[in-house]
Amino acid sequence: MRHVANLKDLSPDEIREILDKSIEIKQNPARYTGLLANQSMAMIFQKTSTRTRVSFEVAMTELGGHAIYIDWESSNFVLSGIEYETEYLSRNVSCIMARLLHFDDVLKIISGSQAPVINGCCEKYHPCQALTDVLTMTEHFDGSVEDAHLVYVGVQNNVSNSLVIICAKLGIRLTLATPDENDNGESQDADVRRIIEQSDLINHTTEARAAVTDADFVYTDTWIDMQYFNDPDHVEERTARINQMMPYQINRALLDKVDCKIMHDMPIHDDFEITPEMVRDPRSIIFSQAENRLHAQKGLLWWVYREAGNL
Ligand code: CP
Repeated sequence: MRHVANLKDLSPDEIREILDKSIEIKQNPARYTGLLANQSMAMIFQKTSTRTRVSFEVAMTELGGHAIYIDWESSNFVLSGIEYETEYLSRNVSCIMARLLHFDDVLKIISGSQAPVINGCCEKYHPCQALTDVLTMTEHFDGSVEDAHLVYVGVQNNVSNSLVIICAKLGIRLTLATPDENDNGESQDADVRRIIEQSDLINHTTEARAAVTDADFVYTDTWIDMQYFNDPDHVEERTARINQMMPYQINRALLDKVDCKIMHDMPIHDDFEITPEMVRDPRSIIFSQAENRLHAQKGLLWWVYREAGNL
């Protein structure tokens, strides 16, 4: 059975198939209103979310199916073994989307499930976001997206890992402009590190201003993992991170005279990774990108259900 853990085991053609179908469904929604009729998907959340929850739930509704929201803390996942709860769940639903803290637990869900599993973001990967991002770049670039230069400015994390994986597969030039010291280490991935070291298309620099000069897309993400943001126990870590990261803030000075589109996967933290005027700058495509979570989710669900033989 095919699962979507991190995009590593999808071929470039399979990724392109998902992106093409996302565009096809976006342009012709009426043709797909019955695609997932009578199908139910469980959505398990250990972490906060706005876009992942809404886009998957709306996608299932608009494709004729149904999505069930399961809060980890108020379900019996919190009390029992992940494999037991997952096996039960997968005997009632035809797909599971899980947003968990740890990739190891996503793997446990995959191992216990009789239905395909989609990783809805963990500490290492955010595959659904990466699909959305390339879909959005495709729509906002004159010419083939393989000729675009994407510059990710900020901190290496789950989002940048998935961008590295998808850009390497599709042959898109990606520069990571980030400090040498990355997040607290939880997102480190040997395959991603190897791609950065060995690929001609995927590079790392600590110099944000130089990196964005010929960027077609400049992308940023939160500097601190979402669950730490408002936690009083992490004030010191948060302050140190902000001081280290200010040279990487997306602001007027950094993007002065740069002919690029501005991207952010949201949620936005004003005056941290980006200033409010850059969110609303004419170059910003942030809200189109966020809206595209819905369209990319539909293409992904089409692929997952087809691979499972359920279409
Ligand atoms: N970008 C993203 O995953 O948004 P949410 O955390 O709101 O789901």
